[in-house]
Amino acid sequence: MTGTELENKTVEEVLNEVSKHSPAIRNNGGGHYNHSLFWKILSPQPKLVPDGKLLEAINNSFGSLEQLKEEINKAGLGQFGSGWAWLLVKYNGSLMVSSTPNQDNPLMDTSIISRGFPLLGVDVWEHAYYLKYQNKRADYLNAFWSLLDWSAVEKVYAEVLQKIK
Ligand SMILES: [Fe+2]
Repeated sequence: MTGTELENKTVEEVLNEVSKHSPAIRNNGGGHYNHSLFWKILSPQPKLVPDGKLLEAINNSFGSLEQLKEEINKAGLGQFGSGWAWLLVKYNGSLMVSSTPNQDNPLMDTSIISRGFPLLGVDVWEHAYYLKYQNKRADYLNAFWSLLDWSAVEKVYAEVLQKIK
């Protein structure tokens, strides 16, 4: 964050102690981080199924990839108003599905129950889908899976495993 007292910190470091900062930092820092991740994991030519360590972890935590997708769809549909649905890695290494309001995310120290490292996030702000899907958030969530590039998520997972080991 150039030109501020936070100049020498990464966005992850700032979000990690976001409770010390203003709502503007929480909202804009979160929005920047969340959308950066979102654009990185979407692709016109996605890898539609994960493999390796990530698939293993998904199967261990959720039973199957289909079950994980259902849980994320449910989290996205259940998020009242604007927000995000997440697959994250908790500090203890386990996977979890959650949702957060506004531009919050699991990195933030304000996310008590679902704190950890995001692997994938789905934007469920109305601006993400109303032009094409109007109010049909469920249709948008289903379409999301045909653009999600699991190879990008596998890369994020490998980076997270480095951080928590
Ligand atoms: Fe958005």
